[in-house]
Amino acid sequence: MTATEVLSAVRAAVSVPADLRVAVLGVGLMGADHVARLHGRVSGARVAVVSDAATDRAGRVAAGVPGCRVVTDPLAAVADPEVDAVVIASPGRFHEEQVLACIDRGIPVLCEKPLTMDADSSLAVVRAEDAHAARTGRRLVQVGFMRRFDPEYAALRELIAAGGIGEPLVVHCAHRNPAVPAGVTTESIVNDSVVHEVDVARFLLDEEIAAVTVLRPRATRHAAQGLSDPLLVLLETVGGRMVDVECFVSTGLAYEVRTEVVGEDGSAMIGLHKGMVRQHTGPGGAVRSTAVAPGFRERFGLAYDLEVQRWVDAARRGTVDGPGVWDGYAAQAVCAAGVEALRTGRRTEVRMEQR
Ligand SMILES: NC(=O)c1ccc[n+]([C@@H]2O[C@H](COP(=O)([O-])OP(=O)(O)OC[C@H]3O[C@@H](n4cnc5c(N)ncnc54)[C@H](O)[C@@H]3O)[C@@H](O)[C@H]2O)c1
Repeated sequence: MTATEVLSAVRAAVSVPADLRVAVLGVGLMGADHVARLHGRVSGARVAVVSDAATDRAGRVAAGVPGCRVVTDPLAAVADPEVDAVVIASPGRFHEEQVLACIDRGIPVLCEKPLTMDADSSLAVVRAEDAHAARTGRRLVQVGFMRRFDPEYAALRELIAAGGIGEPLVVHCAHRNPAVPAGVTTESIVNDSVVHEVDVARFLLDEEIAAVTVLRPRATRHAAQGLSDPLLVLLETVGGRMVDVECFVSTGLAYEVRTEVVGEDGSAMIGLHKGMVRQHTGPGGAVRSTAVAPGFRERFGLAYDLEVQRWVDAARRGTVDGPGVWDGYAAQAVCAAGVEALRTGRRTEVRMEQR
């Protein structure tokens, strides 16, 4: 090989597409947000294809992005030769086959949580990605645990890792939503809301969850019929640390997510909404107030942007650099134990395979 051939072979091997051509599968609430951020706020990528079971919705979203096509079949979108990487924001029950199709094709994917609908199928995805990584040295799947990219959570993890509060012992988490759509069940509160606290606990403490207990305090009168809201969830780690989670999804107020870590030599709290502090007239005289985010998109808007930018940067190198399949699997295994604990009222051990 001549020097020029060697140089061009090296360039080809590390070639970075000018702009990563992304297919977004599912353009409902999250998918349409991801399209807007890929199009308007993230660099190095463009939305080349959108796919949605509702083709009229896909058409409307595509119309807002120059050069974007609709491909009706999501698996055809994954196979499209003009697609370099995929964002999955379809309902969770479709994630497994869509993620596996991306692994089969060897292209990076950002999959919204959940990775799949249960721990066994998530483990199968872990094994499929492991096999790909063993052949190529590249991981392909990032799971959408966006809180890891929130600057406050990242700073809290760094503080703990640097020994800034000594050995962490206890974590207090509050997860409050103003309201949830009709159809939400107590089990889905565990699977869709508590799951974020599960990932936060694993991220901050850097260890697995060993057991889950779920308690049902007196329910708010604002909760839908039959819904246990709020829930108190206790997560025990393999190292004996404990994480309590108050998950309250019908507060009628705003979106509040707070986390406090208590260590041997201090404690640290995030989620206090340090925005503008106003003094104004209230019903009983002058009051001091700060705004509270109305929903998760406002509270974690920056985290989603940073999550997707980091994914794009890694995907242009043919890989991923964020929470992966193991984090998706662990979250599913803990939530499965949480659902069992909810049904039985008992402390339930988490069943997880070794990596
Ligand atoms: N990370 C987070 O904070 C966060 C927040 C909300 C939702 N989510 C996750 O994002 C995913 C989407 O949630 P959403 O709130 O946008 O739901 P949504 O119902 O608003 O949107 C889902 C879209 O997928 C489409 N769809 C249905 N079947 C499909 C298929 N087979 N292939 C492609 N598209 C299909 C639907 O027509 C709809 O437009 C879920 O997995 C959810 O758990 C994550």
